[in-house]
Amino acid sequence: MPYSDNIIQYPRFPSNLIHIAILIAGLAGFTLGAHVAFLVGFDYSLGKGYFAYIQSHGHIQLIGWVGLFIMGVSLYFMPRLAHFKIDLTRRVKYLSFYITFGIILKYIFHSALPYYTDAYWASTISSMTLLSALSILIGIGIYLSIILRIAIAMKNQKNNPNRDIRIFFLLMIFGWVLYGVSQFILSVILYTNNQTILLPNWNLFMVEIFIYLIILPISFGIGLRAIPLFMRLPSIQWNALYFSKIYFGTLVSYFGIKLIYQIIDDGYKLLPYLNTVGLLKNILIIWFVYQLDILLKLRVPWTDTQKNKWIPHKKESRKEYPDYGEFGRFEWLLKSAFSWLVFASLLDGYLYFALLMDIPTELSKDGIRHAILLGFTTPLIMGMALRMIPGMTGALRLKHPYLVSWIAILVNIAAFTRVFPMILPSFILENTPKGYENIMFLFGISGIVGVLAIWLFYFAMRPVLKGNRLPLPKSL
Ligand code: HEM
Repeated sequence: MPYSDNIIQYPRFPSNLIHIAILIAGLAGFTLGAHVAFLVGFDYSLGKGYFAYIQSHGHIQLIGWVGLFIMGVSLYFMPRLAHFKIDLTRRVKYLSFYITFGIILKYIFHSALPYYTDAYWASTISSMTLLSALSILIGIGIYLSIILRIAIAMKNQKNNPNRDIRIFFLLMIFGWVLYGVSQFILSVILYTNNQTILLPNWNLFMVEIFIYLIILPISFGIGLRAIPLFMRLPSIQWNALYFSKIYFGTLVSYFGIKLIYQIIDDGYKLLPYLNTVGLLKNILIIWFVYQLDILLKLRVPWTDTQKNKWIPHKKESRKEYPDYGEFGRFEWLLKSAFSWLVFASLLDGYLYFALLMDIPTELSKDGIRHAILLGFTTPLIMGMALRMIPGMTGALRLKHPYLVSWIAILVNIAAFTRVFPMILPSFILENTPKGYENIMFLFGISGIVGVLAIWLFYFAMRPVLKGNRLPLPKSL
């Protein structure tokens, strides 16, 4: 239906946000990570900027790559779920301006900060870092003001608890508030105390908030609604509302205990509780993936439970999937994403178990973090974008579906080479000829492979984001 000036419609897909997200990832987020990994892997001097680079990389990836994607998709998805028509054009423009401006400032000024010792310059540059946090906070504020309006309008879905995902959205809103405000406070402390990096413990605490209160709840919520359709999985026959309440309670307890542990002097007394709840949070995640049935496909797909008689079509869809191949092998991305999530949760769960039982372990939190952020989140974003966005923009299909398999291969190599060097036990490396040398080589190239994957993804998505209907590829 054509959009008129007077009648309010559902918002158009904010392609601009996704375009900016991919460019930020390709130009700043992944490249900073690649730079740091290259220095470490090939034993170059890390230089004064090392820790500032790491923090800029992490923040830019979370807000610029993952955050903008979540914002773009939810701003399209939520009004439709809530049956709420709203014009978002101007607000999306402001939102993308503030976030992009904040990220550019972060990229330039936080990375440069450690190199300036002169008091005047150091203070000017760190004020730019503060301005970056403020700009991003305003962007998050605009996003949340829209989401809250829609959430309030969302119909009570009490009648169907299997489809009720409001608690996941609530958690995500908490997560955005906590992350945005805390980054601002940490930047104020950086500015007033003349530091070159944000307080590392608190910064990593907030990274964890971003993962468990923003990324996972939105993946669960949208995963429950969209993934069964794209992957021909079973319909949701379990109480998602009940699960979301348990997840909510567990995460609030986990972060509550962790907060007290970080603040009080004898916080170590809380460690047994923290480790128990940490273990439980991982069990819940694995249980969710099992229920989604995306990896094992043990149950009958939702199509087999439909009452309507199946009408044969001229053209057969792909075996086990409802599409004809116009989105490439997007399922490689989605399946590998959830395999990484299970793997990361097993490792993280084991880490808490080992800490609880006093079993010595070398497992690195950084490896687990990247198994979630690079192994799970990045292919999930890519897979959902390649499968879902063509329908949202009106392109309807990909111009180059064959690229999708290559994107999946590259991003998984990037994740493998980034994560395994951090988690392989030292006895394996010591007993393998040139073990350390080879593993550091892999670590060194991980970022370069990641950058290749993201640019290939950009190449596949660019025609889709333009929004014109694409012709069916000749191969189909
Ligand atoms: C191949 C791609 C990537 C490479 C080579 C890479 C590299 C790195 C390196 C070397 C570190 C420092 C680790 C340390 O503390 O010793 C780091 C930290 C981090 N990375 Fe990545 N990374 C990649 C992808 C990602 C992605 C996709 C995300 C998020 C979506 C991400 C988010 C983070 C975060 C949050 C931190 C912690 C920052 C901090 O300590 O404040 N990375 N990364």
